[in-house]
Amino acid sequence: VDGGSGIYESDFVNATGTPVVGMVGAGQLARMTIEAATPLDVTVRVLAAASDESAALIARHVEVSPSLELDPIAAFAAGCDVVTFDHELVAPEVLRALEERGHVLRPGAAAELYAQDKLYQRRELAAGGFPVPAFRRVESLDDLTDFAAEHGWPVVAKAVRGGYDGRGVWVLSDAGSAAELWSGASGTGTPLLVEQFVPIERELAALVARRPSGEAVVYPVVETVQADGMCRELVVPCAVPAAVTTEASALALRLAEAIDATGIMAVELFLTREGLLVNELALRPHNSGHWTIEGAQTSQFENHLRAVLDWPLGATGLVSPVTVTVNVIGRQGGVEPREVLPRALAVPGVRVHLYGKGYRPGRKLGHVTALGDEVDETRTRAWRAAELLMSGEAR
Ligand SMILES: Nc1ncnc2c1ncn2[C@@H]1O[C@H](COP(=O)(O)OP(=O)(O)OP(=O)(O)O)[C@@H](O)[C@H]1O
Ligand SMILES: [Mg+2]
Repeated sequence: VDGGSGIYESDFVNATGTPVVGMVGAGQLARMTIEAATPLDVTVRVLAAASDESAALIARHVEVSPSLELDPIAAFAAGCDVVTFDHELVAPEVLRALEERGHVLRPGAAAELYAQDKLYQRRELAAGGFPVPAFRRVESLDDLTDFAAEHGWPVVAKAVRGGYDGRGVWVLSDAGSAAELWSGASGTGTPLLVEQFVPIERELAALVARRPSGEAVVYPVVETVQADGMCRELVVPCAVPAAVTTEASALALRLAEAIDATGIMAVELFLTREGLLVNELALRPHNSGHWTIEGAQTSQFENHLRAVLDWPLGATGLVSPVTVTVNVIGRQGGVEPREVLPRALAVPGVRVHLYGKGYRPGRKLGHVTALGDEVDETRTRAWRAAELLMSGEAR
């Protein structure tokens, strides 16, 4: 077998003798990975924090451990041929210890650190010649205000570890807001970095799938639209000059190799008047790749599995001239999406994905993808279905 690495020797014996991929975390990314595993007859086991998590609801093989300490993860990993991740929450020391014990992690601990620690990521990428926003580590309130004096207000403070969906990102407009943040953060011991407020023209993402043996493929660059620090919408292809997408793709491939990424890696990019800057990396299937389920020849979830198993990767080309994905996010005073699902399904040509998660304002509950020939028409359809799922009313 091309790329067969003879690693399928876990303690866990599944019905068919096919490989067992363990996924730590049981959110929607794990759920959609399981959906992609079935046609390949790959077994996915998930390590959930609770039995009602998105992927735990559909997985045939679930272990539950609220703790992400070494022992429960090592016990889980013993039953898997390869271990991969739905989130970045396993401590770097635990990942290193798992590798020392001989467990196969993809991505490995060293690569994963780039997604776990924003300061490490900025430092290493800057040292490697990759374009990143101006930044510095914050150890005192003076560090914040000195940086702002040099670069101008506003500045953006970020939690070095643990942020997601804009939680852990603060735009500071003046010395007063900096002092307020510092008095709160210094009490919690959350390490911070500060960076320039980038005049963003568009946000883009480049997704790469890379195998341990080095083969890598890149997906067409996607435009991501965020509101309140959270991704709302994806549009492919993105309306930027070809030189920009070519550069974004090349940068993502270079980066994947430089950090030895395995599996899917998403590179979030800021497009400015001066060019591209790297915002952050995720070493796992990513929200910016949800459009690939219907819109690309091989979904990011299938290519993640193929990549972590060191199998040949699937083609990443577009299936349709335009693909638009809209996230279904719980709204204040909104509805349970599943209660209005039939109405959303009446919108022609949309594909609805619900994650089985309970409604909560600000929570990602699902997404809708529409394929079409033209951006405006495709967006309108995707939004009509998503709006129904969020508010119960047509937009
Ligand atoms: N330096 C910056 N200048 C301007 N806007 C920024 C800056 N950094 C972040 N943002 C905005 O905030 C959003 C969230 O930032 P970031 O991606 O760092 O946070 P996150 O919470 O880790 O996100 P994710 O949910 O993708 O993990 C960005 O997509 C962008 O819209
Ligand atoms: Mg982000």
